[in-house]
Amino acid sequence: MSRTVYVNGDYLPEEEAKISVFDRGFLMADGVYEVTSVLKGKLIDFPGHMARLDRSLGELDLTLPVSHDELLAIHRKLVEANNIVEGLIYMQVTRGAADRDFTFPEDATPSLVLFTQSKALIENPAAARGIKVIAVPDQRWARRDIKTVQLLAPSLAKMEAKRAGKDDAWMIEDGFVTEGTSNNAYIVTRDGRIITRDLSNRILHGITRAAVLACARDAQMQVEERPFTLSEAQDAAEAFITSASGFVMPVVEVDGTTLGDGTPGPVAKRLREIYIAESLKHAI
Ligand code: PDD
Repeated sequence: MSRTVYVNGDYLPEEEAKISVFDRGFLMADGVYEVTSVLKGKLIDFPGHMARLDRSLGELDLTLPVSHDELLAIHRKLVEANNIVEGLIYMQVTRGAADRDFTFPEDATPSLVLFTQSKALIENPAAARGIKVIAVPDQRWARRDIKTVQLLAPSLAKMEAKRAGKDDAWMIEDGFVTEGTSNNAYIVTRDGRIITRDLSNRILHGITRAAVLACARDAQMQVEERPFTLSEAQDAAEAFITSASGFVMPVVEVDGTTLGDGTPGPVAKRLREIYIAESLKHAI
């Protein structure tokens, strides 16, 4: 079934949507993106994604070619056109087309592309089963706080996990876990503390992370924002990841070590439920 996608002002069948071969997003990964989830046809944490988008754009001197209100209208139109009840909206802003050069024209016209993906997010079998992660070196650049489209290192890491028969990879730098290939990483200590890495340029500032930590604190759970090692993770009572596409996803194996009894832990399960309920309340 052909989707309707958005490209620079036009709503088109996906086969007809085109971007220039000179687009710097294609040639230089010169662009940023956001992924917003849809539940019951509504957008989850749209203001959070807009705030991060503005920050990413600002860091790269990119401009958004439409207003936030227009962007919201485009999201909603695509949800409607493609009948998305549950799934994701991908949005990408690149610097636009310019003859290939390492410098870019200051006045390039940015490209804006959006498309939808229909997907079961709540009844995701991986959430019931829990996922298995391997550990890999973090080979990404130093500004992971900017949500750029240069995703080759995490893509290769996830392929390595897949080929090893696992679900995802946790990236390690200077002896500490930074994050998952496309998600933030957490452990729960044997005395019930939730540990996740503190915000810096080394990780993406997850929108789901902010919401889930707020849920945890509201539920009187203890949260510590600090780096943790792979061996701490392997010794943890449980672990989980968060992202717009996975919400709270339990982790049951870390680099060959089974956590607990190898099934999703109570903290991850509870946070997943609370997060979904809260998100639905505020969806727009
Ligand atoms: N990825 N860390 C990285 C490296 C990510 O790529 C993502 C999101 C996150 C979680 O951020 P958020 O909670 O705002 O989704 C953390 C998206 C979902 C993706 O690339 O598909």
